[in-house]
Amino acid sequence: MTGPVDGNALAQDLTPHREDTAIDVLQDYQNQGAEHCGREIDLAAHAVAILTTPEPQDKVVQTRLSAKLWRDSKIRVGSAQPPLRPARPARPELRPPREMARRRRGKSPAARLALLHALAHIELNAVDLAWDIVARFTEEVLPDEFYSDWVAVAEDEARHFSLLSDRLSAFGGAYGDLPAHDGLWQAAEHTADDILARLALVPMVLEARALDVTPEMITRFNRYGDTESANVLEVIYNDEIRHVANGSRWFHHICSDRGINPTSTYHELVRRRYAGVLKQPFNVPPTSATRHAFRLM
Ligand SMILES: [Fe+2]
Ligand SMILES: [Fe+2]
Repeated sequence: MTGPVDGNALAQDLTPHREDTAIDVLQDYQNQGAEHCGREIDLAAHAVAILTTPEPQDKVVQTRLSAKLWRDSKIRVGSAQPPLRPARPARPELRPPREMARRRRGKSPAARLALLHALAHIELNAVDLAWDIVARFTEEVLPDEFYSDWVAVAEDEARHFSLLSDRLSAFGGAYGDLPAHDGLWQAAEHTADDILARLALVPMVLEARALDVTPEMITRFNRYGDTESANVLEVIYNDEIRHVANGSRWFHHICSDRGINPTSTYHELVRRRYAGVLKQPFNVPPTSATRHAFRLM
């Protein structure tokens, strides 16, 4: 065994002239053990491999495998350099937010398929967001529980993506059939330098805002008689409450380590960063969920 590798060595395996993708390397490692594979691959490298693999199904399967290795204490955190943007499949076509047609609301299968497709796209981004926070901030001194929480989030997001993909196939469609919003990774790019900014904007604003709109979507699907889709959204909603709570808990933990006030830090970060990322609204969103998120410990 050659001992631990830094995660970037694995990322280099992704150069196009190599036949194996990073996922192949990971699966070889998992199937045959570090000794056979000639390297130990740590959690951060697993995260980078998932971020740099384009196919959603590969991300889902690998998320489960990597999470299991972490849970079974087979890998340590390590370090790696995640890409600025995750790899994406050839389809869906990604369009700038301003070029996205307004989603049609309504009962028609086409309108419901469009909504489910948009949600599947959000969940695929969420898989990558969870792995990005695992790999990007390893220089912070954080306990293993931090990693366990975000690995569990990645698993949840992968399950959400699969549940929504199943709903798309029930409508005769698939992820990739419709154009999708290319703005979802902006919040990650704009907070790549600071874990507190990442936690404030992603789980404590974006995911919390999703909690605000999901109950209405569940009601709508039920009203249309589409209880299967409503049930999927119910599962997602309950998991997302935990994701927001994780964000808030670790935000408070890191503020306490740094000896800074969490309330003023949160408001300052949201004021400075959120407007830049999402254009509007320009003030701290006074939604019930974000207020709730902040209070959760
Ligand atoms: Fe999710
Ligand atoms: Fe989430």
